[in-house]
Amino acid sequence: MNVLILGSGGREHALAWKIAQSPLLNNLFIGPGNAGTKQLGTNLAISPTDFDEVKKAVIDKQIQMVVVGPEASLVKGIHDYFANDAALKEVIVIGPGAMGAKLEGSKKYAKEFMKRHNIPTAAYQSFSPEEIQQAKDFLKEMNPPYVLKADGLAAGKGVLILDDIVKAEAELESMLLDAKFGEASATVVVEEFLSGVELSCFVLTDGEKYKLLPFAKDYKRIGEGDTGLNTGGMGAISPVPFNEPAFRQKIIDRIVEPTIKGLQREGIPYIGFVFIGLIKVGSDPYVIEYNVRLGDPETEVVLPRIKSDLLETFVSIGEGRFDSDPLEIDPGYAITIMAVSGGYPEAYEKGKPITGLDDLDSEALFHAGTREENSVVYTNGGRVMAIIGKGDTMEKALEEGYSNIKCLQYEGMYYRKDIGFDL
Ligand code: AMP
Ligand code: GLY
Repeated sequence: MNVLILGSGGREHALAWKIAQSPLLNNLFIGPGNAGTKQLGTNLAISPTDFDEVKKAVIDKQIQMVVVGPEASLVKGIHDYFANDAALKEVIVIGPGAMGAKLEGSKKYAKEFMKRHNIPTAAYQSFSPEEIQQAKDFLKEMNPPYVLKADGLAAGKGVLILDDIVKAEAELESMLLDAKFGEASATVVVEEFLSGVELSCFVLTDGEKYKLLPFAKDYKRIGEGDTGLNTGGMGAISPVPFNEPAFRQKIIDRIVEPTIKGLQREGIPYIGFVFIGLIKVGSDPYVIEYNVRLGDPETEVVLPRIKSDLLETFVSIGEGRFDSDPLEIDPGYAITIMAVSGGYPEAYEKGKPITGLDDLDSEALFHAGTREENSVVYTNGGRVMAIIGKGDTMEKALEEGYSNIKCLQYEGMYYRKDIGFDL
């Protein structure tokens, strides 16, 4: 089978690495990919949100399956585009249609979905620009810190948490009245602040049955000790030590099952991943957000722990024979540390040559923002490289990861030195 993976980050390199191991694979294509995916297949210079370009590639390369990495293509409706095109409708698309993708594309919709299905989440209300006064009144009823969320996709920047009510009111105005996040903040969700530790839950579903992937915890802030600006993710670890069996069972009973059943009851077809951002408050799980794809950098620690053939599992969905049998999981630990460009997540420079890659085992890293030219690998994004460590214990995995990252050099390289130390 010929497979196309859409996207260009560490998540997509990890997917390419996993799929490349399957005996079912003939040719692997990645669009647009990075310097790492190039070693596993053919990179195609296409944009994941330009569906006509994707269609042309799929027909040219006789591709039978498309695995969608980033949310933008899903929210824009790539699954429906394929389903409604006579030349593409036989192609298996791993990723939900626009109706399902709304769980990530609209925070208001996601909150209403949770309310309908009794799924535990923070108390909230949503507001349009005309309701600015009601929104301010609602803020006054809440206790600080105040959580404001742009309804639409905002590249991970649309959530603001503020301690001060005056600042919260000003941000609310800027979001609702001055389009701080463009169209995405034309609706704002104001919600109760939940205090606890976060973890990420990944579910693969055909819309009826589901399989759980390993849980992971990511590190979102740029600075050590979880300080400074939010990023796409600076590191991740799997399994999650505080996800003990009784808590895990609550996640399944109160959140995963009602989510899958809820989709079914509402007649929303769903093929692909549901990534549930969770927070543990006391001993109970609450949903922070839904995503409709795999997480990055969580994927870089989740996939190395899956022993089953993921491509075969995807094919079973396409052929209507997906089952609920658990995936085979490696009980050991995997950790990743993100090496980023100096200045990230604010302005940063690209195009810095990366050295030291030859000293690293190919399983010791996944490329994120990189490109290759004349056999030299250059930085090409904020998050540059996900360095991996594995071991029977978390300590061993961390030791290996931090030893691996020392091999790598480029101008302005930065990484957090405290991934996993809180656990
Ligand atoms: P999101 O984009 O929804 O994942 O939000 C980004 C981050 O904001 C989350 O990972 C949490 O750390 C934090 N966050 C979002 N909603 C809440 C909440 N209701 N209470 C506490 N923290 C939150
Ligand atoms: N690491 C969080 C995300 O992928 O959204």
